[in-house]
Amino acid sequence: MTEKNRSQWDLCRFIKTLTYFEVFPVLNWVQNIFQSRPENHQNQPNGGSKMGVILVAGATGGVGKRVVQRLLAQGYKVRCLVRDIDKARSTLGNDVDLVVGDITKPETLNNLVMSNIQAVVCCTAVRVQPVEGDTPDRAKYNQGVKFYQPEIVGDTPENVEYKGVKNLVTAAKRYLSNTGEKTIFDFTQPSEELKNIWGALDDVVMGGVSSSNFHILEKTALFAGNVSTANSGGFASVRTKNFSPAINLSGFTGVKLRVKGDGQRYKIFLRTETAWDGVGYSYSFDTVANSWIDITIPFANLTPVFRAKTVKDSPEIDKNKVCSFQLMLSKFEYDGDLNPKFHPGGFSLELESIKAYGGEALPQFVLVSSAGVTRPGRPGINLDEEPPAVRLNDQLGGILTWKLKGEDSLRESGIPYTIIRPCALTEEAGGKELIFEQGDNIRGKVSRNDIAELCVQSLKQPKARNITLEVKQGENDVNSINWEQLFSSLQPDK
Ligand SMILES: NC(=O)c1ccc[n+]([C@@H]2O[C@H](COP(=O)([O-])OP(=O)(O)OC[C@H]3O[C@@H](n4cnc5c(N)ncnc54)[C@H](OP(=O)(O)O)[C@@H]3O)[C@@H](O)[C@H]2O)c1
Repeated sequence: MTEKNRSQWDLCRFIKTLTYFEVFPVLNWVQNIFQSRPENHQNQPNGGSKMGVILVAGATGGVGKRVVQRLLAQGYKVRCLVRDIDKARSTLGNDVDLVVGDITKPETLNNLVMSNIQAVVCCTAVRVQPVEGDTPDRAKYNQGVKFYQPEIVGDTPENVEYKGVKNLVTAAKRYLSNTGEKTIFDFTQPSEELKNIWGALDDVVMGGVSSSNFHILEKTALFAGNVSTANSGGFASVRTKNFSPAINLSGFTGVKLRVKGDGQRYKIFLRTETAWDGVGYSYSFDTVANSWIDITIPFANLTPVFRAKTVKDSPEIDKNKVCSFQLMLSKFEYDGDLNPKFHPGGFSLELESIKAYGGEALPQFVLVSSAGVTRPGRPGINLDEEPPAVRLNDQLGGILTWKLKGEDSLRESGIPYTIIRPCALTEEAGGKELIFEQGDNIRGKVSRNDIAELCVQSLKQPKARNITLEVKQGENDVNSINWEQLFSSLQPDK
């Protein structure tokens, strides 16, 4: 190395980089004490949740509040559509995102409610209560199986069960995007979380003096800086902290970036090991100066590399456990080859999104309806054997008839859906085996806890797509359910 290309190396930046990525836990511990920051893993991106939001309508209800709890416990971001914010706070606590809206008022189902949604779970219902009044906590109504003469209070079933559901479906449809894709980073929706995930990782870690930054702008992210080849350096990069838990991309074909570059060739790395300095799976891509383009990267085309050297005999990437991403501009390609589209100096790569593509579409709208919706007026039905809602459908404002029309609006919408028709709902603990049926003939009961879990599981099962099912509980307690198998027994709607 000549004197000419030796430049002042920055120890401080070196330590900062390693601290950001938690390479030396002791340094992080010291930093936390001095800056009284929370334990750093609170900052770790949650790979289970993806970036979109699940909108829960009817979140203050018996099933809805349990859906919210379960979604949060399983790492999803949740937004609750509520009518009364004070009631919602006391039911749902302070940790959930609440938006005020009413499904019977389409003007309230606006951008604030719908932006960035990945799916909707709808557990709304017209208010039914015993004629002689309910106890303050709606204990009689929640009883489910015990018979109290019921009546509708407040809005009509036509307005809530049909028009309201249809309004929600119509509003959501405008915001739900292509389902064979999973958004990993959506930079069009800036957030604190995005800022905390990405950090610069330049050749300073090897003695170089290149420097870069990752800026979250209004609608994009910008990876920009200066690459210098001094001190035998020549790369700048940004990397995410490790996801916890890792992201499961099995079932997808690859990842897709939407970028605007400067004509240079960049690299992306995916890692499946949390170790700081391990094998990365890399792909080089060319940008077109000042033009937005999509870069499609099949997993099969990723090259395993260790510090820019290809690793022979390395297995293919394990798509089940992707734990970090890295973007890089480097003087080098692989194994000492030079990047033909590299020039030292300033650079910029702007990003709109990073997505997984080529996956099986998942349900994006789960509607909790009711067993019995097709039974009122069905020839041959013996009303004496039917549950109260079927027998009393007319007195209850045609509740089941309007629920069926609400279902129809979802089936006709083109949104991938699951329609769940529970038998009588109870406040029992649940944990029972679930019996699925189609054709709307079963009677029985089922716990609200189990229905809430079924709603959440439906969002994860490609086989739950475009299915209408009835459900009741069986006799046996179960520790776990094979959801894929259970859904496999069902036929998609025509
Ligand atoms: N009870 C049973 O045995 C049974 C059996 C089968 C199926 N089901 C069905 O299962 C589903 C869930 O039942 P559940 O017991 O959880 O119901 P629930 O406790 O009565 O909850 C209903 C929810 O809907 C909300 N809601 C009502 N009108 C609304 C509107 N216009 N805009 C926005 N939100 C509105 C309510 O909000 P507020 O808090 O603001 O009132 C509440 O959060 C319902 O569709 C029900 O019909 C029930």
